Amino acid sequence: MSKSQLLEALKGKEAKMRHKSKHRGPVITMNWNTTLEVKTRVAVGAGARHKLSSILAQIGAGRRVLLLCQPSTAVHWLRDVLDTLPSEDFQVTTLEVPDGENCKTSEWLLRIWEHLEARGFDRQDTIVALGGGAVSDLAGFACSTYMRGLNLVLVPTSLLAQVDAAIGGKNAINLPSGKNLAGTFFFPKAVLADQEVLETLPRRQLTSGLAEILKYALIEDTAAKATDYEKGPRPLIDIVEDMLRNVVEHDDPVLSGLITSCIKMKLFVVARDPHEATIRRSLNLGHTLGHALEMATADSSTELSHGEAIAIGMAQTTKYAVAQKKIGKDALERVKEILIRAELPYEVPKGLAKDKLVHLMTADKKRTGDTIKLVLPQTKLGQVDFEAPVPLSELAKLV
Ligand SMILES: NC(=O)c1ccc[n+]([C@@H]2O[C@H](COP(=O)([O-])OP(=O)(O)OC[C@H]3O[C@@H](n4cnc5c(N)ncnc54)[C@H](O)[C@@H]3O)[C@@H](O)[C@H]2O)c1
Repeated sequence: MSKSQLLEALKGKEAKMRHKSKHRGPVITMNWNTTLEVKTRVAVGAGARHKLSSILAQIGAGRRVLLLCQPSTAVHWLRDVLDTLPSEDFQVTTLEVPDGENCKTSEWLLRIWEHLEARGFDRQDTIVALGGGAVSDLAGFACSTYMRGLNLVLVPTSLLAQVDAAIGGKNAINLPSGKNLAGTFFFPKAVLADQEVLETLPRRQLTSGLAEILKYALIEDTAAKATDYEKGPRPLIDIVEDMLRNVVEHDDPVLSGLITSCIKMKLFVVARDPHEATIRRSLNLGHTLGHALEMATADSSTELSHGEAIAIGMAQTTKYAVAQKKIGKDALERVKEILIRAELPYEVPKGLAKDKLVHLMTADKKRTGDTIKLVLPQTKLGQVDFEAPVPLSELAKLV
């Protein structure tokens, strides 16, 4: 073979190799368009729980239903809800998980999977969560992961779960190192938010829910600007403030209106940003410190409820925003006044180790490297900057 023939042959080989590596490269990038089509039926109002059977029919659910509940809710509402599910149509089993956060563990997740497996649940079947946000978080995670997804129906029984935890398709369990660290996005097929079940909710839990309602009031303008949520004739913050002039009862019609407004706002926010890349972050106002406070006080005599922890988180974040000159001092005074009227705390409890809180905050999912994105009130109450980068070194100023 002459030199020129050899060179020609080598060129050919090189070209083939290039051709080969083009097709066998380790990185495959494909672009395709997806539309997130999520249909969640949300029924809000007194007696909504009685729609359970007809909702299951509407979503084409299978016969098997697992009803998850906690003792403190089951004692009041389990029989009532079971009665709505005729035995000729459904094979219902129940599983009672421990009260409060104690159910949001990998052990209970496994127990649910085992329950479903032992009873032959398939993807047509349904998990119904009857309870507060802890149960709906656990149920959502179990439901999304067993066979990659059964039907999920939520019957939230706490005010906080009705306005927040049951809406929007986030779920989680806690890990020893942090709250809500393992979870998925998985949308319920239906949510039945029934104000009647709030009748048995302990007072402290009712006020906890008021904290999340205040959160919606504090992000209302930003949410309305970024989504199709339409503000009513009066700002939510004024309505909340007025309602709190008297002791709030579970069946207060003003509360009823607020529940509907909060659910609507969350649905619009989630529809715009289901996976929390932009505007959905605003719903985390006060949550970085709030989660740290929940973890730091868990299982102690000073244990804070989720809503109480978020209340402190919102007040302290507003205080930080004032120090950063993002909003005026009067905003902080107003937030504090509302929290006091709602019988909610606004300061980090004395005796809690500040360095521990800072450490817990750094484990937050919103952290990237040396900064963390916080939601900070800005300009006036109702408006927030939902991706304010805050250096980790500044976190001590929140506590
Ligand atoms: N997934 C989300 O988007 C989201 C949003 C907010 C909060 N959460 C989670 O929700 C949880 C907090 O929810 P929560 O405030 O409902 O607390 P919870 O679920 O712990 O309920 C509080 C207590 O009230 C009891 N209870 C609930 N309803 C009752 C009723 N009608 N009558 C009598 N007792 C009743 C519960 O059994 C529990 O003991 C936290 O784990 C939080 O992380 C999730």
